[in-house]
Amino acid sequence: MAKKVVLAYSGGLDTSVLVRWMTEEMGVEVVALAADLGQGGDWDAIRSRALGAGAVDVEVADVREEFGRDFVATAVRANALYEGKYPLISALSRPIIVKHLVEAARRHGADAIAHGCTGKGNDQVRFEVSSRALAPDLEVIAPVRVWGFTRDDSIEYAERFGIPISATKASPYSVDQNLWGRTVECGILEDPWVMPPADVYELTVPRAAGGEPREVVISFDSGLPVALDGRPVPLHDLVPALDAIVGPYGYGRLDMIENRRVGIKSREIYECPGALALLMAHADLESMTLERDVAHEKARLEPRWAELVYDGLWYSPLKASLDAFFAETQHFVTGDVRLRCEPGTAPAGLGCCFVAGRRSAVGLYDHDLATYTAADRFRHQDAEGFVRIFGLGIETWSSKQGPGRPGAVTGAGTGAGTVE
Ligand code: ARG
Repeated sequence: MAKKVVLAYSGGLDTSVLVRWMTEEMGVEVVALAADLGQGGDWDAIRSRALGAGAVDVEVADVREEFGRDFVATAVRANALYEGKYPLISALSRPIIVKHLVEAARRHGADAIAHGCTGKGNDQVRFEVSSRALAPDLEVIAPVRVWGFTRDDSIEYAERFGIPISATKASPYSVDQNLWGRTVECGILEDPWVMPPADVYELTVPRAAGGEPREVVISFDSGLPVALDGRPVPLHDLVPALDAIVGPYGYGRLDMIENRRVGIKSREIYECPGALALLMAHADLESMTLERDVAHEKARLEPRWAELVYDGLWYSPLKASLDAFFAETQHFVTGDVRLRCEPGTAPAGLGCCFVAGRRSAVGLYDHDLATYTAADRFRHQDAEGFVRIFGLGIETWSSKQGPGRPGAVTGAGTGAGTVE
């Protein structure tokens, strides 16, 4: 049995009650670790709440820079979108939290880490698989899977032990947030037919038609976003800055039914204007800078990367191998992408954000090859032989077995490939 546990502490009702519950019911000492991932929060208040709940120690780790550099940047290189849509907001954060839980466990001489996830979600998988990968000797404790508390039970428990809950925001939703975006679940959203109410959103505001359009230039250096409108910004600041530019156009909302790792389909609302704008810009710059075969192969591997990270396999050999491949592709993903936001139309007022232009000094777009003007350098006469040989196999097939063979009734629509 564990004696000292480092708990992933959010400062909310559940993890505050957890501090007390593990101390009382399991007889362990609890060290609370809160990670600042750019979600915002009053860290002094969170610190004293953990101590008030009975933690023997509290650590607040500002991991924003590391999260941007080692996690978000990797996801950008991978154009990471789970099921083609979700930029892995929570999935990216769990492995970095676990890394810091493990480091704290070593510092404090703890023999276990703990989290407040339920048994129905992906986050428990991410916490535990990451922990197994980084520190197989540490026990992982997940009290919420066994304690059977309802929200009312938690409130009653908090009152009984004098844990201040008035400060914990009573939201009808379950929200997880970091600098890559917000996730919103539960409440009325559990009915997939119901349109998300306006109070679900915090980073986006629909702007009605009539407002001004706005443009922003994102600069990339070897696949890494490095500047906004020519001003150098570290990634952990660039994403929130981009949120503030494109969010007011109502861009960046997702409403999806998603396949969780544990076999449940769930209705998810995501709000991630900066993330989606950045991924769009990065993918666009790749279209100009990646050689065709590399681009196509990379596109085949990207969904797999997103799936691995979604499934909690951040620390795994396949994910590391894909990272190495993606990193190799990024050497020349350098240049600028110009995004344009335009106001939406009433009544929803959802605007749009799109790529208005791109440029790269090392791009593979060659104007003199592409142009139809007098500047054209393409050797038109070479095309004849190329196309004839490219089509030779089809021509042979047609004349011997297909629509062009002797006795064939007609070309089109004769069930090509079937032999009578
Ligand atoms: N469905 C998303 C995911 O699995 C969001 C999870 C949100 N987590 C939370 N504890 N509220 O990544």
